[in-house]
Amino acid sequence: MSSHKRYVVVGTGGRCRMFIDAIYQAPFSEHADLVGLCDISQTRMDFWNRHITGELGGENLPTYHADDFDKMIAELKPDVVIVTTVDSLHHNYIIRAMELGCDVVSEKPMTTDEVKAKAIFDAIERTGQNLRVTFNYRYQTAISKMREIIASGAIGTPTHVDFQWYLDTSHGADYFRRWHREMDKSGGLLVHKSTHHFDLVNFLIDDYADTVFAMGDLKFYGKENAEARGEKYSYQRYTGNVTKEQDPFALDLTADERSKGLYFDAEKDSGYIRDRNVFGDAPPVDIYDTHAVLVRYRNGVVLNYSMYAYCPWEGERITVNGTKGTLEYFSRGQGHVIRGQSDDELADEQYAGEKYMRLQKMFQPPESIEIPPAKGGHGGGDAKILERIFLPDLPPDPLKRDATHIDGAASILVGVAGNRSIATGQPVRLDDLLPLPPKASGAQASDVASLAGTAK
Ligand SMILES: NC(=O)c1ccc[n+]([C@@H]2O[C@H](COP(=O)([O-])OP(=O)(O)OC[C@H]3O[C@@H](n4cnc5c(N)ncnc54)[C@H](O)[C@@H]3O)[C@@H](O)[C@H]2O)c1
Repeated sequence: MSSHKRYVVVGTGGRCRMFIDAIYQAPFSEHADLVGLCDISQTRMDFWNRHITGELGGENLPTYHADDFDKMIAELKPDVVIVTTVDSLHHNYIIRAMELGCDVVSEKPMTTDEVKAKAIFDAIERTGQNLRVTFNYRYQTAISKMREIIASGAIGTPTHVDFQWYLDTSHGADYFRRWHREMDKSGGLLVHKSTHHFDLVNFLIDDYADTVFAMGDLKFYGKENAEARGEKYSYQRYTGNVTKEQDPFALDLTADERSKGLYFDAEKDSGYIRDRNVFGDAPPVDIYDTHAVLVRYRNGVVLNYSMYAYCPWEGERITVNGTKGTLEYFSRGQGHVIRGQSDDELADEQYAGEKYMRLQKMFQPPESIEIPPAKGGHGGGDAKILERIFLPDLPPDPLKRDATHIDGAASILVGVAGNRSIATGQPVRLDDLLPLPPKASGAQASDVASLAGTAK
């Protein structure tokens, strides 16, 4: 009997490519068939069909408007629905797919608030179907190495985490050009982006958060901030109005085939403008770009988290401190440098990127930890998570990285609580939003002992 599973994708924007490409390539193509596409934009679905019949050598797939989701399931009978729509819509498709007898693979964030999370939990209980949330960051080689070291007991019992994430004026700014700038679509960056980071902390220290206190503000992007700095903009979008040379935040959606085919050409049937002026007000930016969050975990660990989205460079520093020592990971990307405006040679030298991991046990000198090389997107995370999604009969993962719907909820709830705390000035308990069961136990010292290079 064939072990092929049938998949459909709902939400055919940028992210679905990772799943589509994987399904058409070995080894995944031996176990998975993509059988249909669903979106509000026929242009976007046609774009992916051209990619499938062209680069991937597949056959043209049936396409369905979002209103015909049920019809698609009835006609194509997929085993699994892959959800890669706008964040605030994930729950609609997760729940309906399960009601129609399908399992679901959903992109992060699982959803954007506690009410939708509860509805997803209820659907899982009602239908018995399975939901996987694709936390690819857990599978990054650096993060996996950190979990291995912490699980080995090398820093003793974790007690305190410092987690800083810097988004630059290129990648960070992009959240303010797109639907992500609207709180009701993305839940703000504390949900949309930080769901990855809070999930990483949950994964690294092997517990869920209890109480969250946060401060946040919109300090840089948006019309009001620009005007307060004396900047005036006559355009609400970039394409056709301004070049990168005139405005460093400009984006030309006609500059490459993918942006043009997926977004510029699709404006006519989706109405979606992907290159809004980050300092415009149509629609206004109503998310925060500057965040500081304090979290107490159920096991007593305290987390000091910060994230902002207009840094000249991009990267992260994650330090996990314990009763026997400390583990630190630092990664600095290239940075957003506009060539020709200053000393390019110096820029090359300083912004070449930097990465290190150090373990320092108490009373001992620091030990440099080799970060295993990463292949593919998101620090090697994309390639690894695809294996876990599409390959059958995989051996158990010693690091226990596969995320459940409970993990999905546990990470968004920290962001949801953070947003509420910012609005009210009060700490928020996760149990008051949506009580979660105890975290399933993560990897223990015995699980990781066999992994090469485990720090003792
Ligand atoms: N794990 C990661 O590293 C990662 C990276 C990028 C994106 N993502 C996630 O993937 C998802 C998609 O992001 P993206 O960058 O592809 O965004 P996108 O804007 O490119 O695509 C979203 C798609 O949803 C479609 N859509 C809008 N309304 C719809 C509706 N009512 N029904 C069905 N489809 C609808 C849009 O037409 C569009 O094609 C998001 O949830 C995002 O958080 C995850």
